[in-house]
Amino acid sequence: MKIIFILLLLLTSCTKQLTLAERLQELGYSQTDIEYIETLDESKIDMFLQEHNETLLELMRTDNYQEENLDKYLKYYGEFSNEKLIELVNNDKVNDSNVNILKQMYASDYYIAKNEDLYLKYLPKYESLRKTMEIVNTKRYKELFSDIVPNDISKDYLMLVNKYYQLPSNYEPADLVYVDSEYGRGQTRQLVYEAFKKLHDDALELGYNIIVVSAYRSYDYQEGLYQMYCESDPVEVVDTYCARPGLSEHQTGLCLDVSIPGYSIDDFYKCGAAPWLEENAPNYGFIIRFPANKEDITGYQWESWHIRYLGVQAAKEIQERDITFDEYYACFVEDYE
Ligand code: DAL
Ligand code: ZN
Repeated sequence: MKIIFILLLLLTSCTKQLTLAERLQELGYSQTDIEYIETLDESKIDMFLQEHNETLLELMRTDNYQEENLDKYLKYYGEFSNEKLIELVNNDKVNDSNVNILKQMYASDYYIAKNEDLYLKYLPKYESLRKTMEIVNTKRYKELFSDIVPNDISKDYLMLVNKYYQLPSNYEPADLVYVDSEYGRGQTRQLVYEAFKKLHDDALELGYNIIVVSAYRSYDYQEGLYQMYCESDPVEVVDTYCARPGLSEHQTGLCLDVSIPGYSIDDFYKCGAAPWLEENAPNYGFIIRFPANKEDITGYQWESWHIRYLGVQAAKEIQERDITFDEYYACFVEDYE
């Protein structure tokens, strides 16, 4: 009898089931992980018991994790950050045909989160992802003049004025100065003038006498100019070369139309100074604001003579990236303090 009892005791101790916590511990889970796993339902617990599964743990602990989407999370796991993955799956935004495009989109310097739905909407229309992002970032998918908002004057010399961002009619820069006759004519902002003088002096040493022919223009002046052009050209044509009042950079006092004495601005591109300016303007903080081949973004024909002051850092970055200020503003200025 005693022997049978001992045998029974031995048998039960050999087959003694490990507790769940012990089994998880053996698989290498930490005490905190174990406590968490113990709260789950059985089918999930099984997934943790098959092998040490850190991936699953991280996913389940990410905000907005939804149990019923687990298969889809696992399918695209590793393609995005966990937060992004969960957001995409929960909103049914990721599938086999768009997963690569989404990855490229998030990796792009030009990605703006608030535009994400629009990128996906317009991708079939503009075909390349880069083009789509450029069009959406600059609002060019909207009909021109259909959605004009006040511009952000607090951005100061980085403020944007274009066909979507408007200055108030009474806006006039506080620090306008007159341009000395050796540098041309008109009024411009002090910091623009200082930068331009350096540009002018360096260019002159190379034999290019680059002078200012039009600088700050008030709202009323621009209105007169626009109306005058409308008397000879259809409005759709005028809109490709002259800004409507309130939509002209000239009202900011931050741009200059330049040329060489004896040349009209329309002929400036023929001067040796024009390619020099295009290449070197960023060293002084200026860009060619309406470049050739960017009409679909800027909304204006190429203006070899119209330079915009943005400071050296922004101007050089725009040149290196070969983008417009319109897009630079959307990606790197608009939502930054
Ligand atoms: N010519 C430029 C676009 C302006 O009128 O401001
Ligand atoms: Zn101009």
